[in-house]
Order: sequence, then structure tokens, then C-alpha cells
Amino acid sequence: MYKHLKKILLSGFLFIATLVHAGDGMWLPQLLAQLNEKEMKSMGMKISAADIYNINKGSLKDAIVSFGGFCTGEIISSKGLILTNHHCGFSSIQNHSTIDHNYIRDGFWSRNEAEEMPNKGLFVTFIVRIEDVSKAVLSGVTSSMSEKERQSTIDKNIAAVQKNTKQEDYQKNFVRAFFNGNQYFLFVTETYNDIRLVGAPPSSIGNFGKDTDNWIWPRHTGDFSMFRIYAGKDNKPADYSPDNVPYTPKKYLSISLDGVAKNDFTMVFGFPGRTNEYLYSEAVRQIVEINDPVRIQIRDKALAVIDAFMRKDEKIKIQYASKFAGISNAWKKWQGEVLGLTKTKAVAKKQAYEAEFQKRVDNNPTWKKAYGSLLNELAAAYEQFGPVSRSRDVFLEVYSKIELFAIVAQINNLIKAEGQQNFDATLEKVKEKLQDIYKDYNAEVDEKLFATLMEFYYEDQKDQGLPKELTDFVTSKDQNFAAIAAHIYKTTTLDQEDVTLNALNDDPNGFLEKFKNDNLFDLYKALINNYVANIAPTYNTADDRIQELQRTYMKAQMEVFKEKKFYPDANSTMRVTYGKVNGYEPKDAVWYEISTHLSGVMEKYKPGDYEFDVPEKLRELYKNKDYGPYGENGKMPVCFIGTNHTTGGNSGSPALDAYGNLIGLNFDRAWEGTMSDINYDPSICRNIMVDIRYVLFLVDKFAGATRLIDEMKLVHPKKH
Ligand code: ARG
Ligand code: GLU
Repeated sequence: MYKHLKKILLSGFLFIATLVHAGDGMWLPQLLAQLNEKEMKSMGMKISAADIYNINKGSLKDAIVSFGGFCTGEIISSKGLILTNHHCGFSSIQNHSTIDHNYIRDGFWSRNEAEEMPNKGLFVTFIVRIEDVSKAVLSGVTSSMSEKERQSTIDKNIAAVQKNTKQEDYQKNFVRAFFNGNQYFLFVTETYNDIRLVGAPPSSIGNFGKDTDNWIWPRHTGDFSMFRIYAGKDNKPADYSPDNVPYTPKKYLSISLDGVAKNDFTMVFGFPGRTNEYLYSEAVRQIVEINDPVRIQIRDKALAVIDAFMRKDEKIKIQYASKFAGISNAWKKWQGEVLGLTKTKAVAKKQAYEAEFQKRVDNNPTWKKAYGSLLNELAAAYEQFGPVSRSRDVFLEVYSKIELFAIVAQINNLIKAEGQQNFDATLEKVKEKLQDIYKDYNAEVDEKLFATLMEFYYEDQKDQGLPKELTDFVTSKDQNFAAIAAHIYKTTTLDQEDVTLNALNDDPNGFLEKFKNDNLFDLYKALINNYVANIAPTYNTADDRIQELQRTYMKAQMEVFKEKKFYPDANSTMRVTYGKVNGYEPKDAVWYEISTHLSGVMEKYKPGDYEFDVPEKLRELYKNKDYGPYGENGKMPVCFIGTNHTTGGNSGSPALDAYGNLIGLNFDRAWEGTMSDINYDPSICRNIMVDIRYVLFLVDKFAGATRLIDEMKLVHPKKH
């Protein structure tokens, strides 16, 4: 890895190129005025930072919500109508679906408010205000403290800050660490719990292209669904009640019908989950060469097993669709990540950056004292971290794909609760969890996963020291994993829902006693104990050390590279990112345009196909070019891309134009640029948005839900 270092050092200033790029960054809304407004305006923004974040009057931030804690949503009417992605609303849509009312297949459109459907457990959270509480949280923290002492001081300080925060009684607050614990911000929030499903297109539109098209540009998915916030009569948060009324927002987004053009300013506002932009070069090398490849390799195997069963069995196809999508989502993203990090020479760039860092540090006596050996210490820490993080990945990837282990884990919870007061409550919980697992469980698929993945685990980890119970067992069966799996699944009854649940209903204690002598339980305990005793402690020690060094490294980077504007890594808090609508060159001699059209949906159309079927109504609208006011030059725009820096959690985020009008709905990134979580590069990093005109066209022309269009405020900012 160091072989290019000298060359890069000689060529000098490569790192400078990585310092500033339009598009890079997920910024805190309350700091835009100070850090970004000027640049945003120079890129074409026509509003001010105070229009985006203002605690004294309604601003754009009041129209943005965290949707269920895992996605983003935005308010698009004066009656609390929320827009988010189809894949964000999916579990709600699924929960309301039955064989007779299959809303996943057919879509759902409420005709009036009375038909809007409540969703237990679903919530949206507004951010009321954000405050820098770094001073209070870090007070009394000294550099001589151990990590443990440091954390306990911080925890106490946070508790005090939270307690002393002025807020209404229906509001809550939390404190989060930024820049690896160098800064802390307080968020005062308001959460609404009565969120009703208003409408969703069929999956053949909302998830058009499914796994084949996932993470891919050009894309043709209408990935949206609509909900509505209901509030008490006083407009305050209230638990579900038929008496609740549509929420009146402080602010809602107007919607532009004017579409997008290349180089238009765009801004995406939402709740990105997690990024790692300031890693040490060796960390990036390990991701590219160790962690991503082994996780991809294991998922290759798991997906091949599941796919083969799904192709030949309709029931398994339904049972495993969501699991398959989940496994393949990250699997595909990691492949794009490796490709992108390699292509943009991310490791070499980091090394050049580090060389410059070291040079500056060495030339300044204060820095030299504080940070002189920091990079060497990081190198040493990552040397320890590499192998154990790989073993951890292998174990977790394998363990989490074999559902028999998840079933045993539930039984084990019950064994742990034996003789305790909470046994009955645990029993109920365990039964519920088991029913959940069994609902989409097929023992044949699971047995094949066991045989395939355990063989990989065994071969891969045998030199790292495997539990004796496992090696003995494997040796006794001549290392034939098909036979081992067959033996386990034949002898256990845990793969049968009725047998397990009947036993738990009739005689839970007798069942547990018997299970304690089961081979499967021995194997399970051996695997878990091996992880807990041999992997987790080494991993945690190495990881703690890295966290500590990374905190110092982050602080040092901000001091040493004064000319650079730093943004904190994503941590599921509200952020603004901005960029421009632009295409990209995915490979030599290929240029990807900025938008796709309904004609492209028709090019991909495969009648009856699981991924690429197109509803008849949509085909008809296409044939008649019946696009209403939403088409452009006789074509219906579908999706577009831009340089906005987004990540998981930004699903459902609004894409706004220069005036703050809604122009699109973020839902994905292009494959070549998924490495933006680690190394954003404006040449290939693109976020993918549904064009808002496609959403309106579907609501209006496809679904006929004109009552919703009537609620919205449609504008023409470009045509004055
Ligand atoms: N890749 C997008 C995200 O990370 C969309 C995932 C949902 N779609 C799918 N086909 N699995 O969440
Ligand atoms: N689909 C992702 C999500 O659900 C957003 C895409 C991304 O990771 O950028 O949050």
C-alpha cells in the first residue's frame, strides 16, 4: 500500500483537489448561514439560509420529518400530507395487505380522509431547534482521563443538559456526538404518532426494476408513497384516535412543475444515517481489500441459495422476497463501493493527504508534540483491527443468515429467564418473535443455507481456532456439510412451527429441559461462546483504541487544514446537502444523461415479469401520451440525478430547487458512486431522485386521486 506514496508525495498537491468540491458534504441546517450560504448562492440558490432554518418562524426545516426513524418524509400540503418513498412505507403497505386487498400488488388510494389507514408504531419526528452544547458536555473532560472516565463524565453532563433544556411538555430532546466526539449538539424534537397511509402505487411502479435495477442508473422507479399526520384538536401530538384531525403544519413545500435542467441548483434535506469520510488510509484499504470482499463473498453464496429456491417455488418467492431484497441491497452497494474506491484511487488520495498532514505537523512544534505520532499509532491500531474485524464480519454474516440460529436464540432467551419473575412475559415475547420468524421460514432453504455458509465459515476460520464441539462434529461427519446439515435439520424439531409452539404452550419447562441436551444447542453455544470469548473482546479493544485515536485525528485535521471546510459524518441527524443536476461518465466512452422517461419504462417492460412488468393503465397512459400538465415536450420524465451527497436514511428526502420548491424525491444512489460514504467524488457520485412530475402524474392520471393534487400548491418558478 505504501508503494505509490513517494510518487504522490513528489507530485505534491493531489490532496488539494480533495479539499473542496461542489456536492461534498452533509451540513447542519443551523450552521448554513455561517458556512454555506455564500457557496449555495454562488451555485444558484435564490433563497437565504434563514429560509431553510429559522427558529422564530416557519422555515423549510419545519416541513421535513424523520419518517419512522429510518427514512425521511416531507409535508406537501396545509393538511399534513407527507411524501416519502414506497420502500419507506412498504411495511405499512404490507401490514394492510391481505389476499383480497393486496395493496403491494395493486396499490392503494384512499378516496377520503376516513379511508386513510392508521399504522401502529409508525411516527414522524420534527426538529424544533438545534443547539451547540459542546462546552457543557465536555466540561470537566481532560486529556489524562481514561476512555471510561471520559465517557462517564460526558454521560453525566449530557443528562444535566437534557434535564435543563427548556421545552414544552410534549417535546423531547436528545444530544448527539459530532466529529467523533469533538462537538455535541442538542436536538429538541416533536413526535407525532398518528400517521395514516394515504396512498401508494403498485409495486410494479413503486419498486419497478426491483433488485436488478436497485443502485442503478438509468432508473425508472416511481418510488413514492403518501401518508398524513393526524394531531389532537389542539394540533399537538396525540396517540391514535378516530377524533384526531389532519395536522396543520408550520410550513409545507410548494411543488414546482417546471422540471430540471443540467446544472440546476438542487438541495436535499433529510436524515442521513452513517458515513465515514475522515478515515485513516489503512481503514479504507481494509474496507476495499478485506471487509467488503468477504461480506460480498458470503452474500453471493446466500443469495444464490435463496434465489434458486425462489425461482422454483411461488410460496418461497413471497416468503423470501423481503429477506432477499435486504441481503442484496447491501451486497450490491458494497460492490459499487469497492469499484468506486478503487477507480478513484481513494487509498492513494488519503495517503497523500496524510503525508501533507504529517509535514505540517512536523513543522509546528505544538502540533508535533500533540499529533506527531498520531498516524503511526493509527497504523498500529489498524494492524490489530484488520484480522479480527474480518473474523467478526465472517461470523456475523454467516450467523445472521441461518434462521435456525435465530430460533435457537429465542429458546435460549427463555432458558435464561427460567426461574425468573419475568419468565411468563418472556415466554409471550418469544412466542411472538418465533411466529414472526416462522411466517416466512422454509426449513429446506434454511438447511441449504446452513450447509453452504457453515462450510465457508469452517474452511475460512479453521486456522483462527474454532470451537472443539464444532471441529469434532465436523470431523465425525467427514467434513461433509450437506450431511451435517441434513443430520441437524432431521434431528431437530425446531424447524417446525407447530411442534415448537405447541410444546411452548403445553409444557415449556419440559421442552426447555429436553432442549438443553440437544446437539444443536451445544453447537449454538459453542459458536456464540467462541465469538464472545475470542473475537468480541479483541475487536472491542481494537475498536475502542481506534475511536479514541480517530477523535484526536479528527480534531487535528480540523486544526491543521484550516483552509478546508469540514462537515460532520452522518449520524442520523438532520442535514442539508446541495449540488447540481448533472450526468456522469460511468466508464470510458459512456455518458449518462440527467433524466429518464416513461419511454424507458416501456423499453424495460417484460410482460408478467417479477421485476419489469408494467400495469396496463400505465401502458395506456403512455400510448395516449396522456400526461396532463406533468409532461415535457411530449415526454413523461421519471427520474433524475444530481451531485447531492446522500446516504441511507436520505430515502424519502425532498429534492428542492433554487427557491426551495419540491422538484424530486430522493431514493437511491448510482452504483459507481456508492463509495460516497467513505470518499465522496463529484465525478461519479450521484443521488437518484424521482421527478416530482412523475409522482403527480401517477397520483392524478394513474390513480385518479385528484383530491390530493387539490391540496397541494403547484408553482411555476421558471416561467415568470
Ligand atoms: N438502494 C435503495 C436503498 O438503499 C433502495 C432499496 C429498496 N429497493 C430495493 N430494490 N431493495 O435503500
Ligand atoms: N435507498 C436508501 C435509503 O433507504 C437511500 C439511498 C442511499 O443509500 O443513498 O435510505
